[in-house]
Amino acid sequence: MRGLDRTLKLPGGEAVAQFGLGTWRMGESKARAAGELAALRAGLDAGVKLIDTAEMYGEGVAEEIVGHAIAGRRDEVFVVSKVYPHNASRSGVAQACARSLKRLGTDRIDLYLLHWRGNHPLAETVAGFQDLKKAGKIRHWGVSNFDVADMEDLFEAGGDGCAANQILYNLGRRAAETGLFALCREHRIPLMAYSPLEQGRIPKSPVLAKIAAAHKATPAQVMLAWVARHKDVMVIPKSTSTAHLTENIAAMDLVLSVDDLAQIETAFPAPKRETPLDML
Ligand SMILES: NC(=O)c1ccc[n+]([C@@H]2O[C@H](COP(=O)([O-])OP(=O)(O)OC[C@H]3O[C@@H](n4cnc5c(N)ncnc54)[C@H](OP(=O)(O)O)[C@@H]3O)[C@@H](O)[C@H]2O)c1
Repeated sequence: MRGLDRTLKLPGGEAVAQFGLGTWRMGESKARAAGELAALRAGLDAGVKLIDTAEMYGEGVAEEIVGHAIAGRRDEVFVVSKVYPHNASRSGVAQACARSLKRLGTDRIDLYLLHWRGNHPLAETVAGFQDLKKAGKIRHWGVSNFDVADMEDLFEAGGDGCAANQILYNLGRRAAETGLFALCREHRIPLMAYSPLEQGRIPKSPVLAKIAAAHKATPAQVMLAWVARHKDVMVIPKSTSTAHLTENIAAMDLVLSVDDLAQIETAFPAPKRETPLDML
């Protein structure tokens, strides 16, 4: 199977692509919009089946660009978007979702996430998500930037229908391994790794360079393959360059050896103690 075709299961059993395209920082400049749209279209043409966006990105303009990219091919793509915490009251979620649907030019969002925890009680947000699900406007809901204690609060607030938790995770940001991975696995909630390339700040590490050279790959590809070694973690790098996009897709076919992983473990060790999640 092509690496790009790898899927994982949401808690309800639906298969979702492991690889997707991020869109943060898209929609912030008119001059860059055409290139951003072209990059998303090129990704879909290459077989990418998931796009991650948010009402926050470009204050809605990223969703509009995604809308143009998926126009005429909506059924090929699993669309993820996110609601701002300040909009996450029961009625606010409904209104924000309606605005996002309009910008995306679609009748449903496949996975709708609370972008990070805010001041609205989680039970209200969950009720808002459940209303939207019943109305067919979203197919699944989840959270983002939720650490262990947040997940526990979510379960107490009736949030056991949560389908995913999107978090910062890459080889230099491994706090999730100190508790969140275990908790989410126990509940069969997949994680989505955001900023898997540390926003393009690829570490200048001799270990990374050596492993990359041995696989005729780039350090960025090793970083993506390292995240995707977890079969239950989605990876959503963002790229507006065709060369990077091609590289990132190909990274899904890169399999790191036990020895590669051991070397990475030494160079980029996970924290030894329970460590709070970072957020970008
Ligand atoms: N839930 C949250 O709070 C949250 C937070 C952050 C991000 N996210 C989501 O996760 C997505 C990915 O994270 P991100 O955008 O923060 O960072 P990222 O994917 O780690 O890095 C994106 C940056 O890396 C560059 N890049 C892409 N491929 C590369 C490659 N093969 N080699 C070298 N550089 C490369 C891109 O430049 P080019 O454009 O020039 O290719 C871009 O500057 C976001 O776009 C967003 O959808 C969610």
